[in-house]
Amino acid sequence: MIFTTQCDSPALWQTYLSDPASITMEGILIFNKHLLFLLTVIVLFIGWLLFYTLHYFIEYNNKFSSKFVHSKELEIVWTSIPALILLILSTPSFTLLYAMDEISEPELTLKILGHQWFWSYEISEFNSCQKQEQSLKYVCYMMALDGLPTTKQGYFRLLETNKRVILPTNTHLRLLVSAADVLHSWTVPSFGLKVDACPGRLNQVNLFIKRIGVFFGQCSEICGVNHGFMPIVIVSLPTVQFHHYIMTKLELS
Ligand code: CUA
Repeated sequence: MIFTTQCDSPALWQTYLSDPASITMEGILIFNKHLLFLLTVIVLFIGWLLFYTLHYFIEYNNKFSSKFVHSKELEIVWTSIPALILLILSTPSFTLLYAMDEISEPELTLKILGHQWFWSYEISEFNSCQKQEQSLKYVCYMMALDGLPTTKQGYFRLLETNKRVILPTNTHLRLLVSAADVLHSWTVPSFGLKVDACPGRLNQVNLFIKRIGVFFGQCSEICGVNHGFMPIVIVSLPTVQFHHYIMTKLELS
């Protein structure tokens, strides 16, 4: 299967969040920018206050200290303004939080199981497909560095898996995350997802991928010696192509 994709991998000296690929991550990014603006204003204001305090408390500038020790009015102002700022911030924060929790009618279910130290997947419960009872199961191990073709560029050390999870774009997906042995955490930064995989517990999240791409992630819960060696690779395909892919795969199995 040949398709061109953008690559959403971590970049060298990256300091900012990765490009969003899901509605959730877009929301997180917008909220992050919103917060950064407010933080900048607050830091500038506090810096200005500090500068003036230092300036006026130097004996060189002020030979006689003031008798001013307490002000009830001032205290009310500097307590209520930060409280008001927090109150204003809570609105977009809670909106985002509840929007992320919303579960729409999913087209398919991706079951994710964390193991020491690899991920296993199962794609099932297709909504608009005759093969509803069937499912596609596979296990994804990290590709060892020695196995990576050195002549070929574009492979990422500690990030590539032997099989990639293929998912459709512009469709509501349900992810069910659990673990077989110890705690793991299924994380893909481009989707804004970090779901704990707990043994004996099923965590549900929804995912709506907005564009095609190759997305990378890693386990984000210390789970043993090979914690750093259980990466996640997701490839998103246009819906029609995905349908094609899943039909052929199911027929083969
Ligand atoms: Cu699995 Cu850390």
